[in-house]
Amino acid sequence: MAIPEDVINEIKYRNEIEPVISQYVNLKRRGKNLVGLCPFHSEKTPSFTVYPESGSFYCFGCGVGGDIFTFTGLIENLDYIESVKLLAERSGITLPQDGYDDSLQKQKNTVYDINRETAKFFHGYLMSENGRWALDYLLSRGLTVHTIKHFGLGAAPDSWDSLMNHLKSKGYSAADMLTANVIGKSQRGSYYDRFRRRVMFPIINIRGNVIGFSGRAMPGEDKKSGKYVNTADTPVYKKSENLFGINFAKNHCVQRIILVEGNMDVISLHQAGFCNAVAPLGTAFTSEQANLIARYTNEIVLMLDADAAGQKAVKRASELLKNTGLNVRVVIIPDGKDPDEYIKKNGAERFSALLEGAVSDIEYKLLTAADGIDLDADDGKLKYLAKAAEVIASSEDIMTRDIYIGRLSDKYGVSRTALTSKVEDLRKKNYRQAKKREITDIVRPKYAGDGINSERRRSPKGAAAEETLIAVLLNHPDFCEYAIDKLPAEKMITSLNRRIYEIITDTVKSGRTLDLSVFSEKLLPAELGVVVSLQNSNKADKNAKTVLKDCIEVILEEDIRLNASGNKDISVDEWASNLQNIIAKKAKGN
Ligand code: UTP
Ligand code: MN
Repeated sequence: MAIPEDVINEIKYRNEIEPVISQYVNLKRRGKNLVGLCPFHSEKTPSFTVYPESGSFYCFGCGVGGDIFTFTGLIENLDYIESVKLLAERSGITLPQDGYDDSLQKQKNTVYDINRETAKFFHGYLMSENGRWALDYLLSRGLTVHTIKHFGLGAAPDSWDSLMNHLKSKGYSAADMLTANVIGKSQRGSYYDRFRRRVMFPIINIRGNVIGFSGRAMPGEDKKSGKYVNTADTPVYKKSENLFGINFAKNHCVQRIILVEGNMDVISLHQAGFCNAVAPLGTAFTSEQANLIARYTNEIVLMLDADAAGQKAVKRASELLKNTGLNVRVVIIPDGKDPDEYIKKNGAERFSALLEGAVSDIEYKLLTAADGIDLDADDGKLKYLAKAAEVIASSEDIMTRDIYIGRLSDKYGVSRTALTSKVEDLRKKNYRQAKKREITDIVRPKYAGDGINSERRRSPKGAAAEETLIAVLLNHPDFCEYAIDKLPAEKMITSLNRRIYEIITDTVKSGRTLDLSVFSEKLLPAELGVVVSLQNSNKADKNAKTVLKDCIEVILEEDIRLNASGNKDISVDEWASNLQNIIAKKAKGN
């Protein structure tokens, strides 16, 4: 059942789009609209636009768009009904309880419940006599009982069915346990516990729900299943979008967040008082994780391994993070240790000093550019300076460039002028290349519907007319009656535009107000982006009625043309007779 229109309107009335989005995105005013860096893809220049007048947003970079409900759904990972509920809750509106289709939410709640019960089971086992082996291991790694309880650590018994039997006794079905991914199903169809004889780390999201687990094998016990077994993606868990420790870090990150490699690093930093450490969950760092961090802090310190893989990870992560507008710094841990080892050996104070000495990502690149080069030899020095000049040239800030040029010229005894002109040459070259790319981008005009509406190619002219028609109707719903009369929906050429047209005409016919919420229920975010971009496209500014008439004419013409050329779905007979005609014409020498 759908939520009544007046309830939706009330929620919209109490939640203006600007404050809703400002909770997540830093918005700057541009004319009557607002712009910011898109939270749904990485970008350096803002293409995310908010239109307070129509209560909508649209990203010219990635094409997503919609209203407050779409935005909340995307950023909080909720479905439509859930985001309506969340926004209702935030603005103090009580929704009538029953009737709404929230089967997905029910499923999620069951998974949360199973996860919480599972975490309790593992923790209880760890603290029991039978779990002594795991507790001894954690204590031997320097964790205190307090820390173990704080993180809710646990242990999985060496058994194929203990957890399953426990959950069964609590009333959960095998199907739900499978969905939560705490049990697996063999090819022969029998169920088994996924985590066996492992130290268990519950993964907890920002709202404090247990969303998954990471299970570590005991050292020396080589397992076919690997050192870590992690929860696969479930309705409540996507490893690429979460970070271990974020539930604590989000409350302690006024200054910065520290990104480390593993769970154990996070835990031992927290124990030493650095509660702002987080780690990705067994994946390469992603842009979603970068966005999550950018929601809570302005500065990130990368503290990854010093080996080649770690350096590559630093470069990748620092690009993603810089794109979100975060200030990125890098710490190189002496002797190639991981943070866990370093802090245990050297204590919190030395670790603090290490943090304070974190270098900018330019400094980091300048340091690592020297890898494998003999700086004592003249040609080595030259090779290094060439690489270093490229690093400096990549900075957009003239003061920054000046500072590093100064440092390098002092250190390597080359003249400032020589180094400056080298850097400026590189910048000119980079600028030319960027311009070239820009020009090719302009030649191929960017329109949101392009990538999404795959049928556009069948008739670019017809599709363009459809888009203008939609733009006109969105801005002048009173013309709908005229359009319905002249243009039946089945004449629309592309099916995306046909669906949009149908939603518009159905809404107007039923007397509902034509605003974005009627679309956000029925379209995907990228499709909704098309609607928003059309709504704000100025296509419908002048002579709207005449424009509308012209569009309808073009669409009808194109419909006839496509039908005649057999480009639409036609019967075999029609197709054969078309072909006969063509052959006959050819035979006549036309
Ligand atoms: P590490 O091997 O560095 O583990 O992997 P760690 O957490 O520091 O644990 P200790 O110190 O050896 O006890 C770093 C992270 O990579 C993921 C885990 O999230 C781990 O925390 N990982 C590693 C996996 O997902 N699977 C693996 O097989 C190994
Ligand atoms: Mn480690």
